[in-house]
Amino acid sequence: MDGNGRWAKKRLLPRIAGHKKGLDSIGVIIKSAINYNVSTATLYAFSTENWNRPSEEINGLMELFSDAIDSQTDKLITNDIRVRILGDISIFTNKLQSKIKSLIKKTSINKGLNLNIALNYGARSEIIMAVNKASKSKTGALLEKDLTGNLYTKDMPDVDLLIRTGGQKRLSNFLLWQIAYSELYFIDTLWPDFSDKDFIDALYFFQNTERKFGNLKGNI
Ligand code: FPP
Repeated sequence: MDGNGRWAKKRLLPRIAGHKKGLDSIGVIIKSAINYNVSTATLYAFSTENWNRPSEEINGLMELFSDAIDSQTDKLITNDIRVRILGDISIFTNKLQSKIKSLIKKTSINKGLNLNIALNYGARSEIIMAVNKASKSKTGALLEKDLTGNLYTKDMPDVDLLIRTGGQKRLSNFLLWQIAYSELYFIDTLWPDFSDKDFIDALYFFQNTERKFGNLKGNI
């Protein structure tokens, strides 16, 4: 969800105003994801690298997460959305941690859209965590399934489509293991401007891409 800061800067607003507007785009794509039968969507909301930002912005983001949980929990439940967190939330304040845990619990029986929120997430530390956990419970060489079974995304399918807004064409330490065969979709639109139409365009791109997973299908 890149581009919130630039969206705000263009309007001479503080960066947090861009993040607040970004919440509206989240609402739009959650609705679209449900409409178009997407089973799982993951939002990259806060990376392990985002701690390097000014404390004013970090505090603003923490407040935004907390307020969003307060105001959106009922809507998430009514819409049958199951929320899970990817990342290490033990670094957050006790208050925010318990709000997050309560949200996970309250939505845990939901059967509709799986909504993952990546918070204090970094793919490299996730992979290291998984290797350490797997090697503790197994002697001998690790297999791929030992590792995938210890990622935050265990029991979830690999990523089919990765969308990055805001014009940069990079992965920024996001789900590096899980995107091995993903289709990558980069658009210039800043996240607060991301619309239902942009999401549908991304889904069309995905639908029209022949997936090969390393074999020659389509070439012979
Ligand atoms: C990247 O844009 C965006 C973020 C670091 C934060 C995204 C968070 C939200 C939209 C709020 C999410 C809330 C919930 C409850 C999931 P940037 O700041 O790097 O933008 P820039 O590249 O234009 O500076």
